[in-house]
Formats: sequence, C-alpha cells, structure tokens
Amino acid sequence: MSQLEVNDLKMHYQIKSIIGGKGVVKALDGVSFKVSTQKTLGIVGESGCGKSTLAKTLMGLESPTSGSVSFDGVPSQNLNSKELFQTIQMIFQDPYNSLNPRKKAWRLIAEPLLINSHLSKKECFNKACELMEKVGLRPEMANRYPHMFSGGQRQRLGIARALVLNPKILICDEPVSALDVSIQAQVLNLLVELQDTLKLTYLFISHDLHVVEHIADDILVMYLGKIVEYGPREQIFKNPQHPYTKALLKSSPNIFEDNDKHEPLIGEPPSPLNPPKGCNFHERCPIASEKCQGEVPTLRFHENREVACFNL
Ligand SMILES: Nc1ncnc2c1ncn2[C@@H]1O[C@H](COP(=O)(O)OP(=O)(O)O)[C@@H](O)[C@H]1O
Ligand SMILES: [Mg+2]
Repeated sequence: MSQLEVNDLKMHYQIKSIIGGKGVVKALDGVSFKVSTQKTLGIVGESGCGKSTLAKTLMGLESPTSGSVSFDGVPSQNLNSKELFQTIQMIFQDPYNSLNPRKKAWRLIAEPLLINSHLSKKECFNKACELMEKVGLRPEMANRYPHMFSGGQRQRLGIARALVLNPKILICDEPVSALDVSIQAQVLNLLVELQDTLKLTYLFISHDLHVVEHIADDILVMYLGKIVEYGPREQIFKNPQHPYTKALLKSSPNIFEDNDKHEPLIGEPPSPLNPPKGCNFHERCPIASEKCQGEVPTLRFHENREVACFNL
C-alpha cells in the first residue's frame, strides 16, 4: 500500500470572462500516481501546467472535479480537517507573502497548534522554539516579525509552521524558486535533513528539473494538466523519452555539464482555456505526426516508465 495514492484526479475551473463568455480551465486533467513512505516524488513542468493546483487539491484547499486521493489507503474525504492537516502539509514558493506580517514568528509557527490542539499558549510557544532550532533559526528570534527575517530565514519559518502538527507528507511547492541562488542549497539541504530525521514523504514541485535531480526518487512531468512522463529518477534523467521532458532537460542550465548544450524551450504552453486538439504538446513538438493533431495520447509503459506519446 502506498502512503499517498492519487487516482484520475481532475480539477476543472469554470471561468466566466468579463465579456460574457464561459469556459473551462482543465488545470488538472486526469492525474494518477503513488508515493511510498519516506520517498520523494519530483513534480515538474513549466508555469501554468497545474502543479500548484495539484498541491492545493491534495491539501483539501480545492475540491476536485473528480478522481480520488487516499492516504495509507484511507480516502481523503473520510478524514476531517484536523486529521488531514496532521497527514499532509505544504510549504509555499513565496516566503514573503505566505506569512502574515502582523504576527510574531512563534505565533506563525504555532498557529496550527493553537487551533488544532488543547495545548496552552506557553506550551505552543515552547514547541515553536523547539521547531525554530530544528530548522536552523535561533529561538531568541521567536518574538520577531517576518520582515525582520531574510528570505531564506522566512522560508525556514514556513517549514517550521508546516511541521508543527507532525505531518507525514510535506508538499514543497517551488520552495527555493524565490530565493537567492546562494541560499537555495542551504534550504534544500535542510529539507533533505528534515526528511531523514522526521521520516517525511515529499512531493517536491519545481519548474526546474535539475532542482529535483538530487532529491527525487520518482519524477512526474506535467504538461497542461496531464502527465506526459512518469518514472524512476535515473530513467528520466539518463534516458528521457517524451519530447517535452527532453526539451525541459535541455532548457534547464546544469552547472555540472557543458552549457553549450543548453537550449531554451521555444514558445509557451497553449492556454488551458483553449488547448489544441490531439496531443497538448504537438504544436511545439519536433517529432509530431499527423496522428498527434487529432488524437490524445494516453500513458503507456515504455522503457521502464510511463509516457504519453505516439511516436516512441
Ligand atoms: N482558481 C482558479 N481559477 C481559474 N483558473 C485557475 C485557478 N487556479 C489556477 N488556474 C489555472 O490553472 C492552470 C494551472 O495553474 P497552476 O496550478 O497554478 O500551475 P503551476 O503551479 O504549474 O504554474 C493555469 O492556467 C491557471 O491560470
Ligand atoms: Mg505553481
């Protein structure tokens, strides 16, 4: 049994435009995967492909249009909000806007406890200080406000807050994208260390494949709400199959490799409000055939991973 199992999850937003038109944004369009205890699933794809929507849906912040999510075999709808918060938590991309500027550090961290437990204020304060130490912040800073912390420190506050209820699963939604490059490695190292000591399961979201290269066990590549490739990390990096995965890998500068191979991805994903017929990627695809313009490829096993492409 997997700790997290997601089955054919869809999140379709009904949109009304100001000029009166209606439409549907298929932000998530039939996504299935499994994550085992203490493993890390890397979720990658360009901006707008549905990564944050997936995170929000798993967190119960959005109710999905269809599909199911289960934790240790228990359907998520059978969990009340407190049980859900004790199972899965999230850290956000933006450490500047995700923390209430009017609350002191200890209160920001302890807030989920103040709401979801019967601990006294003093006990919550102590727990917050303990967590500050765990994430590499001095507990003497407990009475400071968020603006008195640096970007990296604020992300540490966000991590402490996410851990206060001892969740089993942590979703990291682009946790280092907004930070200086010099700080990114420190925060990534902290996350790796915490995973080990607290036995956490991670869903690690990034638009940059190389950020997940050293932490993910499995990789899931998304394009316009759908999975295009999903499999073990080594397979995806050593032998990428989907033309989108290949393009993402080439577009992401890798400091360990010859940067002459670096090629930016041309164009942008199509609007999810008006996706192309057939394969979502065919308009940008170097190996698209006529079939790709009319038919939607589904995931199939190929070369030790799942991939959605007709031309492999
Ligand atoms: N509440 C919403 N209402 C309508 N459309 C949304 C909403 N949230 C996200 N979207 C759309 O869903 C798509 C996926 O967004 P998102 O999940 O934020 O992508 P990512 O995190 O990969 O950048 C985008 O086209 C976005 O505009
Ligand atoms: Mg996002």
